[in-house]
Amino acid sequence: MANQKYVFYGTIIDTPDPSTLRIRKEHICVVNQGRIELIQPFANRNLDEHQDVTFIKLSESQFICPGFVDLHCHAPQYRQAGSATEVPLLEWLRKFTFPKEARCSDPLYARDLYTKLVSRLLRNGTTTTQYFATIHLEATKILAEICQEKGQRAYIGKVCADQNSPDFYVETTDESIRNTEELIHYVHQMQKGRDVAGINALIHPVITPRFIPTCSISLLSQLGQLAKKHDVHVQSHIAETADEVAFVHDLYPSIGNGRDVAIFRETGLLTSKAVFAHGIYLADNEIDEMAASGSAVASCPIANFLFSKGLTAIEHCTKRGLNVGLGTDIGGAYASSMLPVMRAAVFAHRTMDFVSFDRSHAALPCFPEHKDAIIDFKFAYYLATLGGARALNIDSQIGSFEVRKQFDALLIDCNRENQAFDYWKDDEMDILFEKWMNAGDDRNITGVWVQGVKVG
Ligand code: GUN
Ligand code: FE
Repeated sequence: MANQKYVFYGTIIDTPDPSTLRIRKEHICVVNQGRIELIQPFANRNLDEHQDVTFIKLSESQFICPGFVDLHCHAPQYRQAGSATEVPLLEWLRKFTFPKEARCSDPLYARDLYTKLVSRLLRNGTTTTQYFATIHLEATKILAEICQEKGQRAYIGKVCADQNSPDFYVETTDESIRNTEELIHYVHQMQKGRDVAGINALIHPVITPRFIPTCSISLLSQLGQLAKKHDVHVQSHIAETADEVAFVHDLYPSIGNGRDVAIFRETGLLTSKAVFAHGIYLADNEIDEMAASGSAVASCPIANFLFSKGLTAIEHCTKRGLNVGLGTDIGGAYASSMLPVMRAAVFAHRTMDFVSFDRSHAALPCFPEHKDAIIDFKFAYYLATLGGARALNIDSQIGSFEVRKQFDALLIDCNRENQAFDYWKDDEMDILFEKWMNAGDDRNITGVWVQGVKVG
């Protein structure tokens, strides 16, 4: 199945940069061994050349576009997504989230939940997800297996938490380190199986300290050493709410300057393979330090509206050279699709024009000048595809359609029965694309490919 060849003929849409919606009409896109072999205007080429392939001729209401990269998703929280939206972050963790995550000590519970989640995300067009699982090694391995079986590209972390957590959902420092290293070995074994088959790895391990309050400095430092030893990705939360920033400062006032960025730096976790969720209350020198380290921010605008009393200053960060992508933040946020997340990113930017907030929470200079760039639907689509790929350092592999890149793609049809918006035949392709982004949903997603394999 992996070696199936495809030729698509029709409209190909992607965002090679934040301000460009590239629309290639009447093109062919040839996919072989999971990669894009050729993209060119169809002209008068004879399609008979491609008789050994699956030929897909797109209609006037259809196009292909890159699949979504969700940089921040808590797999066990899918059980609560869409509920528990009315309390502040730390109370939400205590009351709703830790008890739900603790249930993943039961592998059967985890398998059922994660199977539903991965199926749902693929149906929604998310071809790559970076997951937080739970503190449980076995359930985290199950998540990795499900992603592999269903064919989703996945970055998967076992959550690490050795303090400030309830008795029923906490681990010792040693357990946390041992199980994190075992997950890394386990996923690397899975990767070897695929390499033998000549196909790149789909599943990757991620070192995942939940956030600084639930981690001792010893745990953070040992995780930093593991990140270096195995050269693997890192993820955590950073500067998400004023309460969290104050909590961290109270806990560790003398590590760095007692702020998230300095503590991650001091413990070896501010790496070029690190993605930090939220990044709201960041001072400019912290944004610059993150940019210089090559790490990235996963902006989760729906969760930010619900929890943060502030927003990621996305284009301010990108202007300063910090990579930014988007995340659903299931289940701090309610949406399992990246479409509402992109819409929220656009709204968040508009909101910044009329709401001022202190990003530093420490009276540091804060309000970004953001007049010359606009986060519109194109910028949002870029963030949800190539921007996310850049954050994970895989933009040479996925995120847009270029020869030699892997084919992680969606087939969109804007003329489906029962869809959420109406179709007019004389709408141009850019209009159709924008309408789908703003008013469409998974009913318009009629095909999903990861690495050239049809997975939905
Ligand atoms: N900070 C620590 N844990 C969490 C979590 O599960 N969700 C969010 N949004 N923030 C966190
Ligand atoms: Fe989160």
